[in-house]
Amino acid sequence: SEILYFETVDSTNTQAKKVALQGVKDGTIIISEEQGGGRGRLSRSFFSPKYKGIWFSVILKPKFLPQEAPKCTLMAATAITKAIEDVTGVKVGIKWPNDVLYEGKKLVGILTEMNAEMDCINYIIIGMGINVNIDKEEMPEEIQNIATSLSQITGKKISRLKLLNKILYYLEHLYIICQEEGFAPILDEWRKYSITLNQHIRVIGTNEVLEGIAVDIDDDGALLVNIDGQIKRVLAGDVSIRP
Ligand code: BTN
Repeated sequence: SEILYFETVDSTNTQAKKVALQGVKDGTIIISEEQGGGRGRLSRSFFSPKYKGIWFSVILKPKFLPQEAPKCTLMAATAITKAIEDVTGVKVGIKWPNDVLYEGKKLVGILTEMNAEMDCINYIIIGMGINVNIDKEEMPEEIQNIATSLSQITGKKISRLKLLNKILYYLEHLYIICQEEGFAPILDEWRKYSITLNQHIRVIGTNEVLEGIAVDIDDDGALLVNIDGQIKRVLAGDVSIRP
């Protein structure tokens, strides 16, 4: 597929949106060495310093219904987790829906955005940010204790190229499986890495705050939470794991 490379950009997700509106092939990639205005979920900013991480977005045009969009986030998290394990040997965990953590600290952020009309997805943009070679002192103070990087974990400089290569390999592989065999095989992989399942969690959703036990995810990628014996489906939200 096509790869559009930038030295610098505001946000690869924003750039991807511009490109997608002009019409692109399924699987087009926008990657940048740095982002001036990297974006996170809930209008947060995302620290993306030059040459120190992998900041990129993939434009997909899957035959999904809009409510299936969370599948893309789970697919991306699974691909990145597998690639990190292969390249560095570091075992990381996925916190539903979109964070990859190491010992409770954020290593990867994923921001999925879509453009849909009625029951049809025009395109989905999966933005992924991987902290690769960022020293703790280089991070803004407010994230030093809640974020980490592969170099901080391993004590070594990690090849961004090798890692990117593996991520793209797994992304393509899982995307093909998803289209040919459905979502079940991806869910099985995802469950292996999940740190959310079987935990007491609190979810801050768009309209409500829920607390219960995360029991599973369903075929659309929604989290199933047991609240006093009642199962509730959560499509999006900020999850914190409770003691
Ligand atoms: C989050 O943790 O809230 C999501 C962070 C997503 C960051 C990536 S970096 C590449 C892409 N471009 C952006 O502006 N954001 C995503």
